[in-house]
Amino acid sequence: MSDWSKIRPTMEKKSQTQVDAEKIRKATRMGVPLSITTYTMPHEIELYIAEVLACFLAEMNQDRLKDYLSYCINELTTNAKKANTKRIYFKERKLDINDPEDYRIGMASFKEDTLSNINYYLQLQKEAGLYVKVIMQVKNKNIILEIRNNSELTKTEFMRIFDKMARSRQFTTLEEALTQILDDSEGAGLGLVIMILMLKKVGLDDDNYQVLVENGETITRIIMPMDLDTQEQLKTLTQDIVGYIDTLPQFPENIAQIEKLLNDPESKLSTIAAHISNDVVLTTDLLKLVNSAAFSLAKKCNNITEAVKLVGIRGIKNLLYSIGSIQILGNTSNEQKHLWEHSYKVAFFSYNLARNFLHNRLVTEDAYVCGLLHDLGKIVFSAMYPELLEKLERVRSTLSIPDKVYQALLAGANHPDIGAALAEKWNFPTSLVLAIRYHHSIDEAPEEYADLVATVCLADLFVHYAEGTIEFYQINPELLKRFKIESEAQVKKVCSTFQKGFEAEQLR
Ligand SMILES: [Fe+2]
Ligand SMILES: [Fe+2]
Repeated sequence: MSDWSKIRPTMEKKSQTQVDAEKIRKATRMGVPLSITTYTMPHEIELYIAEVLACFLAEMNQDRLKDYLSYCINELTTNAKKANTKRIYFKERKLDINDPEDYRIGMASFKEDTLSNINYYLQLQKEAGLYVKVIMQVKNKNIILEIRNNSELTKTEFMRIFDKMARSRQFTTLEEALTQILDDSEGAGLGLVIMILMLKKVGLDDDNYQVLVENGETITRIIMPMDLDTQEQLKTLTQDIVGYIDTLPQFPENIAQIEKLLNDPESKLSTIAAHISNDVVLTTDLLKLVNSAAFSLAKKCNNITEAVKLVGIRGIKNLLYSIGSIQILGNTSNEQKHLWEHSYKVAFFSYNLARNFLHNRLVTEDAYVCGLLHDLGKIVFSAMYPELLEKLERVRSTLSIPDKVYQALLAGANHPDIGAALAEKWNFPTSLVLAIRYHHSIDEAPEEYADLVATVCLADLFVHYAEGTIEFYQINPELLKRFKIESEAQVKKVCSTFQKGFEAEQLR
């Protein structure tokens, strides 16, 4: 078993403590977790964790938390490692850690015995697979820091921690805490108190600090809301963009008219088809999409009447949203081409995920367009409306918003909100608006649309996984469960099948 981090590829290639900053940035923006696993916590890993933390916080513009959180990580990983050592020590002495009398006997000599022979015990821990994991993630505008180790707290240990936490809360200053006699038999007393005091100082209270046992792991979780300044600044800039979106061209008139016809239950298929056929460009675009592998048609479809029959009213409507968006936002610059390429791939993956794993007709029908437009909020930027950028620059300097926050916005922070605002302005259906809004925060999606949002979310992650920008552990297990996908091998297989299908489509 390796003792190195999960963010490992660069570490193996370059020096072992090299941090892959670009990977960390991407993961932070996508809200996927960063996890570092170690068995013995050597000094290089400590340094490595500190560097990852610094990079992670810088991306969130939360550098001010670095020292505090570094301290917390050190304290908590030391405790987690010690808890693992304790398990091994008790096992070796054939003592039952859950038995109060055995616990007393073991603890009487634990510190002395293990300190004098720590390498031996660390080796045993490693052999037993007892790990310590540090996980960082941005979720729903919160920074979440978790320390996990795979030995469950005993009742006594649990009580002891809660007792210490409760006592710490009464203190307002460190001096006050120091003058009290603290139970230090476990060696972790003072560290925990200092940590609680520090977290209090950055404005956190009980709800922000959790200790729990779950599936054989002890988890300590610190939840830190992103500071209000940054949140406000991002909001102001986003509002400005949304305001600007109001000045963007309306959805193409010809397409809007056809949408109207499609929405009218009185319309005849022949009238709709005739209307579409009048527009040569639209007809070509539509047939191209209908014939793409995404719809798995048995044979090529050459006319609109047939296309409407094959894809259905809903299908045609969805395709028109895509065509209209591409017409307005364009796909000429390199950046745009790159974004649309990603979008087509996510669309293909979404459709196939829904069709093969969910078997819900409505989700399957909407999956393609939702995948295609999920990053609409990024494409708006790449559409490079110079007036928009000028305006934002003005807002930024008038409100003296830090350059970092501004850059984060340009790099895609808040792109789900921006995309959803544009989709609303263009009167896209609710399912599409919500898929765009929640594709990086599935937990927040309304239950009714959860399957659709999950499809787009997982398709996006699969595309990144297939490209090697994220690793298996970064894919939300709950999401995989929804699609009954269980192992990394299965993910690999699905991704490679989809990837091949997508490439074959490009060649048609
Ligand atoms: Fe996205
Ligand atoms: Fe994406």
